[in-house]
Amino acid sequence: MAALIEGRGLVKRYGGVQALAGVDISLRAGETTGLVGESGSGKSTLARVLLGLEGPDSGSLSFDGRPYDGLGAKGRAEFRRRVQIVFQDSAGALDPRMSVGLSVEEGLANLGLPRAERERRSREAFDEVGLPASRRDDYPHQFSGGQRHRIAIARAIVMRPDYLVLDECTASLDALVQSQIVGLLTNLGERLGLGYLFVSHDLNLIAQVSRRIAVMRSGRIVEEDEAERVIRSPRSNYAMELFDSMDCRP
Ligand SMILES: Nc1ncnc2c1ncn2[C@@H]1O[C@H](COP(=O)(O)OP(=O)(O)OP(=O)(O)O)[C@@H](O)[C@H]1O
Ligand SMILES: [Mg+2]
Repeated sequence: MAALIEGRGLVKRYGGVQALAGVDISLRAGETTGLVGESGSGKSTLARVLLGLEGPDSGSLSFDGRPYDGLGAKGRAEFRRRVQIVFQDSAGALDPRMSVGLSVEEGLANLGLPRAERERRSREAFDEVGLPASRRDDYPHQFSGGQRHRIAIARAIVMRPDYLVLDECTASLDALVQSQIVGLLTNLGERLGLGYLFVSHDLNLIAQVSRRIAVMRSGRIVEEDEAERVIRSPRSNYAMELFDSMDCRP
């Protein structure tokens, strides 16, 4: 299967820091890749570059087999719809003055969909994430952290994406709520045929959700393979040390 998003030789510098030092990665539709690595290894930078939120200093990016630079306005709009993002603080980033229903519908309004259609799809999205559609008129402060998280996920899936990038998205939640959200994501992934790039420090979590695992260190991917293989017998010393320090090998 051709890659949905592919990066080749990605380099990104911030002043003297080489956040990405030549990364090759392929993300396939319908498949979940877990991205692990110590703090500062470049995971979030890679996620932002793959999302087209920041251009690389060198290297190339393609979407559905087409060079990202040649997509044009229409192609980029399609990319932005098909690839959605849920960041760590996205639940906190909901506009406090906007009802959560309007927040969820915002992207649809930008697409110019009529009100009735927006409402129908937002009800559907609330349903998908396990929140009653009747709560669409409420405001973010009226929800728990876990519920706000579900709203952030609703905001993403209402666009009917193929792929979600989740950067440490459950890091702020307690263990029980975290496992509920992971369960929800797994379920949605299967039902909607979604693939994820799941960025996390937590190898247990990564192991639970990922078909493939990529291990990052100092701006490079030092290992990338089937999740089971990487966890059972990491080839790189670094991955071995990382997994030991995380103390979570089965
Ligand atoms: N906007 C920026 N300006 C300057 N330096 C940056 C910027 N973004 C990232 N960096 C640097 O790039 C390197 C990689 O950062 P990045 O945030 O990608 O790491 P990470 O793997 O996501 O870490 P964490 O696990 O802590 O989230 C770090 O040295 C960081 O300080
Ligand atoms: Mg990060």
